Amino acid sequence: MKRVRVFSACLLALSLAACSSGTNRKDAIETKVEALLEQMTLQEKIGQMNQVNPNGNLEEMIAIVKEGKVGSFLNVIDADVVNKVQKAAVKESRLGIPVLMSRDVIHGYKTIFPIPLGQAATFNPQMVEDGARVAAIEASADGIRWTFAPMIDVSRDARWGRMAESCGEDPYLNAVMGVAMVKGFQGDSLNDPTSLAACAKHFVGYGASEAGKDYNSTFIPERQLRNVYLPPFEAVARAGCATFMTSFNDNDGVPSTGNRFILKDVLRHEWGYDGMVVTDWASASEMVPHGFCADRKEAAEKAVNAGVDMEMVSATFIENLEALVKEGKVSETAIDEAVRNILRLKFRLGLFDNPYIQTDASVKYAPKHLAKAQEAAEQSVILLKNHQDILPLTDKIRTIAVVGPMANAPHDQLGTWCFDGEKAHTQTPLKALREQYGDKVRILYEPGVAYSRDKRTDGIARAVTAARNADVVIAFVGEEAILSGEAHSLADLNLKGAQPELLSALAATGRPLVTVFMAGRPLTIARQVEESDAVLYAFHPGTMGGPALANILFGKVVPCGKTPVTFPRMTGQCPIYYAHHHTGRAPSGKETLIDEIELEAGQSSLGCSSYYLDAGFGPLFPFGYGLSYTTFAYDDLKLSATELNPNEKLTASVKLTNTGKRAGTEVVQLYVRDKVGSVTRPVKELKGFQRITLQPGETQTVTFELPIRDLAFWNIDMKKVVEPGDFTLWIGTNSDEGLSTDFKVKK
Ligand code: BGC
Repeated sequence: MKRVRVFSACLLALSLAACSSGTNRKDAIETKVEALLEQMTLQEKIGQMNQVNPNGNLEEMIAIVKEGKVGSFLNVIDADVVNKVQKAAVKESRLGIPVLMSRDVIHGYKTIFPIPLGQAATFNPQMVEDGARVAAIEASADGIRWTFAPMIDVSRDARWGRMAESCGEDPYLNAVMGVAMVKGFQGDSLNDPTSLAACAKHFVGYGASEAGKDYNSTFIPERQLRNVYLPPFEAVARAGCATFMTSFNDNDGVPSTGNRFILKDVLRHEWGYDGMVVTDWASASEMVPHGFCADRKEAAEKAVNAGVDMEMVSATFIENLEALVKEGKVSETAIDEAVRNILRLKFRLGLFDNPYIQTDASVKYAPKHLAKAQEAAEQSVILLKNHQDILPLTDKIRTIAVVGPMANAPHDQLGTWCFDGEKAHTQTPLKALREQYGDKVRILYEPGVAYSRDKRTDGIARAVTAARNADVVIAFVGEEAILSGEAHSLADLNLKGAQPELLSALAATGRPLVTVFMAGRPLTIARQVEESDAVLYAFHPGTMGGPALANILFGKVVPCGKTPVTFPRMTGQCPIYYAHHHTGRAPSGKETLIDEIELEAGQSSLGCSSYYLDAGFGPLFPFGYGLSYTTFAYDDLKLSATELNPNEKLTASVKLTNTGKRAGTEVVQLYVRDKVGSVTRPVKELKGFQRITLQPGETQTVTFELPIRDLAFWNIDMKKVVEPGDFTLWIGTNSDEGLSTDFKVKK
């Protein structure tokens, strides 16, 4: 107790000195960190490096806190427990160091927003930032001050269940959305009691897991790592993301948790990162089954020496670090560096000054939070097809058949990684349609199949009868929340259960069919798109998905979402993404498909391009695709110059006109191709986007500024440079269409 007081007095003196001398807050924190570190025993330091998932026994939690054996707890979401634990930490541990409470708050705490993949479909970073802010306000009311988000793993294989948690396939989109989430979680200052420290995960390359199987190995060469997988992480590191999490995968044989190259050379030395690095759940001890470490002791040694600061749950640090230091296998300098990073975070969060929580339950599901979640859901919905403008539904509609397992699935529409949102608060489409339109139209509800995997076909006849009695059929299909997310990969992306039979039977009635998909990934839906008159893709839209979809179906809201990932026709096309490299056999002319090949045809290379005989070259929908209830025309693409120096900025503009009859929002996208490089380059790369809202008939000039330095990439010499030469630039409505022109970068 005496030492606590000594330390507090010392802190006070130091802070006063720091303030009066005008030293900024950053320096003041460093001074406090050093002062505290100096007083810590080796055991206390190792204790700070230990993150524990408690078993619910408060006495045990308090006991290890008092002994200084824990730096952070996961999954404590009771403010009363948090306050008791903090009291023990602050008042009864030798040095009074508060504990950091953490939880996966991924796309909302109580008010659930669309899954991150759906949020990415909004192409609206402000919306994403607002969503993270809402999550932070709600979660911090229960004492959580650290979330394990954003997940910014570039994800190009829809078999991988965790694509749902990501912002899709594109490095730039993941970077922009990741930064937006960091801003939202961390607010204006980490020091604010409603701020959560963000955690960029999973560092790095996890999204490239072989064959889309979770936890699987990756084989990403350094150039690809630097050009594709690292940029979103660099962006959030530079934006002040407080923490990083190592990933489960071994890349080219080295598990991330023991990978000094990514944790030290890149993160600390190249990027100058001074945040804190935590392992993923037991990813330190998992280096033993990986065959990278002989035992748990070696796992602790390799993790700390690689640059990990805190270990999540597997306790190899607390068990072994003291001995490892004594044996000289881990230096005390390395331990000090880790503890500095941990203490710095606790000071930045203001935990020493304000360790306790004043809960305000009214922030949970606050009306303004629900309104934001609804707006996010509305903007996340993608219109994939609208034959003869069947949508929006008009007031001529008298009877609607509402069909399908996702029409009223309050748990499943919340999506994966939803620990705290409660289904009792979910607004399903069925509920919303009844509440908003039940007095104007007759709603016949027949789910047809009970849940997405349901193979029973006996309900289909009743759904067909409802369809026959209706003016329009709205079928809500897709996948349950549990079919995507961690450890939930799929080898077949077709609709599950009897859903395909249900949709075919509905289509056969000849009634107009609107199909709404809710899923954690792009499913392979070519047949269903064919059978439907209109198709909306909503991913898992969260708590307010129902009212959002009702508003879109009836035209109160005009859809504006765009695909954040390429939609494959067939699972075998995965991984599929627009920014693939030029091959030596770029598609030329017509692709010959399997039924066009003559019997006993002689061997030929069929038009010389890289494609599948049974799926063709292209996807079902390209990246960045999405229709509207209005139409947009692009004209008059102009560049400020056609020859530029590497230090200049290119201005590109286009005239966008709303050529339809409704106001609408278009996501205008800018792509660039580097025509010839010292290594082969992607056929296109997204370099910018803007959401533009126009009234019918209105025209706006949309201008992008593209600093030429943004064209830099890691080249043949593993240097990040802009290589002089010829480029093509597109501005358009998706990654496959747009106006284009060329420019040159001079030496
Ligand atoms: C996941 C992380 C998550 C952690 C803590 C792990 O299994 O990979 O994304 O943050 O658990 O719950």
